[in-house]
Amino acid sequence: MSEPGTPIVKHALPAAHWPDAQTAARSLLFATGRIGPLTTTSRSWVPAMVPWRATEDGFVTPDVLSWYGRYADGAPGVLVVEATGIRDVPSGPLLRIGHDRFVPGLRELTAHVRERSGGRTRLFLQILDFLSIRRRPEKAKFIARFLAVTPHHRDAVRERFGAAAAADDTNVRTTLAGCDDDVLRTLLTPREFRDYAYGAREEVSDLHLPHVRELPQVLPGLFADAAARARDAGFDGVELHFAHAYTMASFLSRTNVRDDGYGGSLAARQRLPLEVIAAVQQRVGADLAIGARFLGDEVIAGGSPLADAVAHGVAFARAGLHFLSISKGGKFDDAKQPNVGEAAYPYTGPSGHECMPTVRSDARGPFGRNVELAAAIRRAVRAAGHDTPVVAAGGLCEFTQMEAILQRGDADFVAAARQSLADPDWWEKVRLGRGDEVRRCLFTNYCEGLDQKHKQVTCQLWDRDFRDGAAVARSHDGKRRLDAPRWQR
Ligand SMILES: Cc1cc2nc3c(=O)[nH]c(=O)nc-3n(C[C@H](O)[C@H](O)[C@H](O)COP(=O)(O)O)c2cc1C
Ligand code: SF4
Repeated sequence: MSEPGTPIVKHALPAAHWPDAQTAARSLLFATGRIGPLTTTSRSWVPAMVPWRATEDGFVTPDVLSWYGRYADGAPGVLVVEATGIRDVPSGPLLRIGHDRFVPGLRELTAHVRERSGGRTRLFLQILDFLSIRRRPEKAKFIARFLAVTPHHRDAVRERFGAAAAADDTNVRTTLAGCDDDVLRTLLTPREFRDYAYGAREEVSDLHLPHVRELPQVLPGLFADAAARARDAGFDGVELHFAHAYTMASFLSRTNVRDDGYGGSLAARQRLPLEVIAAVQQRVGADLAIGARFLGDEVIAGGSPLADAVAHGVAFARAGLHFLSISKGGKFDDAKQPNVGEAAYPYTGPSGHECMPTVRSDARGPFGRNVELAAAIRRAVRAAGHDTPVVAAGGLCEFTQMEAILQRGDADFVAAARQSLADPDWWEKVRLGRGDEVRRCLFTNYCEGLDQKHKQVTCQLWDRDFRDGAAVARSHDGKRRLDAPRWQR
């Protein structure tokens, strides 16, 4: 994490050292890899990226097919399809797999990727659960509708404003509604003030909520059902989403203080993730590669540091996962306050920067910033006697950089999200010795800004480029093309 006060400077992209085709052919990057039961054609990996292209009720659309088809053109060793919800609940234009009705569309997706990559890309589905988060409310609405007036408020209002102000609940609400935020902060509980200022957000430690209390009983089955549907849809593997701001990452976190045996100590925090892994293995272990994405460091106050992640990695490897994909940060805990009417976004604070670092960064810069986390986890997993492959991500975008990571044994696969979005053909260009044709990501996060606004994700380097004259799908406002122009070989 950047030390407070560390100067932020703009970093140049790492110099490009593109190999000729023979050098590429001899490289580790383009050597075959192994993930559990699968062989991959290379060690290249496109990690999950949500593009906001599903239907409002979570089905695959033609735009979803072409988004993944475009990555398949570049034939990465592994392509991970975006975080896909395991419950049968509305979640906007994000993919869902919480019911069998989603399987036919996802089957079309796997067939499409297989065809476009010539069978060279292994396709995984990232499956996730998330807890409810509300938009930041207007003050009047929060106080009138969402706040449950309790003796705490009556006492606090009476003490500050006198007995009349606390005479009944209506007076309490009227008084609170007239307070500015500094005063309100002293009259509400810290959680109530957060609900007001950021929007209410459920946490895994909210044992007073029955559906949160029951998560350990419910989630193993939901993940296993989702994995079985992924198998039926033709995916090669599933990636359990244990990272960022979502339910399973919150169970693993030191911030999880559940007192029902699923929080507190390291072993208790790992318990549900291990039960999910076991349920998924029991259901589809013979058919699919099964791995997890989790955080090498949460990078939040009171959160889990690398030492926890190392222990999680060893526990998951011991449990028989086929791969460990390491991310960093991306938490709600330090997210910026959203505007009224908007929801908090977990990539706006310091931990968000660690997840998707930009060129405006501290002295270390964004490039390969998180590799040391993957390396430490891999070392511990190897020391414990497991050969589970580890995937590194975060500012990876250049051949020599990636090859060095693989040669040093810091990771077994190297993932590039934004570089692949900027140029989905880039792996093929590098493999064929045509690296000087790569359209290089600028790492300024225009794409992430679109994700934050729940807009269809595109790249600033190509979304207004219509020179190819192709009849292309456009964004809802008609201004942006949705897929990168084809590479004219
Ligand atoms: C638009 C966008 C959407 C993303 N969606 C997901 C996601 O669904 N699941 C996930 O684990 N990571 C997601 N990420 C994070 C990336 O997988 C990756 O970890 C991060 O961008 C850092 O890698 P990079 O430097 O190669 O971009 C997303 C990133 C971007 C830019
Ligand atoms: S929008 Fe910017 S950060 Fe995102 S992929 Fe394109 S160049 Fe990279």
